[in-house]
Amino acid sequence: MPRVHVTRPIAEEALSLLRSEADVTVGPGDRESSRQELLDLVRPADGLLVVGHPKIDGELMDTAASLKMIANFGVGVDHIDVAAATARKIWVSNTAGSLTETTAELAWALILATTRRIAEGDRLVRAGEWKGFGPFFFLGTELPGKVLGVVGAGRIGQAVARKARTFGMSAVYWSRTPKPELEDATGASPRELEVLLRESDIVVLTVSLTKDTQHLIGAPQLALMKPTSYLVNIARGPVVDEAALAAALLEKRIAGAGLDVYEKEPEVHPDLLRCPGAVLVPHIGSATIETRRRMSLLAAQNCLSGIRGQVPLLALNGHIPRRA
Ligand code: DGY
Repeated sequence: MPRVHVTRPIAEEALSLLRSEADVTVGPGDRESSRQELLDLVRPADGLLVVGHPKIDGELMDTAASLKMIANFGVGVDHIDVAAATARKIWVSNTAGSLTETTAELAWALILATTRRIAEGDRLVRAGEWKGFGPFFFLGTELPGKVLGVVGAGRIGQAVARKARTFGMSAVYWSRTPKPELEDATGASPRELEVLLRESDIVVLTVSLTKDTQHLIGAPQLALMKPTSYLVNIARGPVVDEAALAAALLEKRIAGAGLDVYEKEPEVHPDLLRCPGAVLVPHIGSATIETRRRMSLLAAQNCLSGIRGQVPLLALNGHIPRRA
């Protein structure tokens, strides 16, 4: 029987599906395996189902002589060296499409939480510091008439932009390629990144992390944003220079930020923790019961296809010759 290693527990239904065709080992539930543990667990595997963000590089692939398939539980694969996998004739897949609306919802939760100061208000009430209603007390910012700037117009970026009209906002977007379908569906228009940053009241980052998008938003880009604007990051932490963002927030050069992802997860830059206008949540973009079930099943199906020698539904490395 082929062997599959799943790096963290996923939905039981998906583990049963894998067990119907493979011997399955599952990593710890409460933490990521150490590098050495992972190397040992992957060594006999034909398939690897990656949950979380352990580094999956050429060295790890070389320890597993019969590895044919790396199925990622999630969309972003910046922790997986796809080129190294392709060179070794190993398929890599993700779960694109299973978490689009859920992650877009989190972007809007962060937009509303920052503009209406939800987390800050909650802290104030719990601390017993609320003295009662006041006409100028705890004012936020309204959304109708404002401009939403979406950076990255893949599935998730498009889903974020589609919801703009619900809140009476117009949308602009930045993408490497024009997205006529987005323009038709939402009226969003394309912008150069610098123009988008200057124009937008809310900037939402949805780009994949690559060497080109590392620190895409740093001090020079933050300086283009309006002092009344907000930044939301649901992409990957290293897309933003966290120290520069914390400085911009503390010096009130922008009004607030909503972050789901961080440069060195699970660490958060200490200066961000001091920013009252920052709403910080722990990488929960796809964390709903329904979505995690869909992701589990999709990752398991991809994994089984790969170990059977079939092209996985959501293969990321095109057609590669079948591994002997
Ligand atoms: C994703 O799907 O990319 C999530 O952030 C989990 O990695």
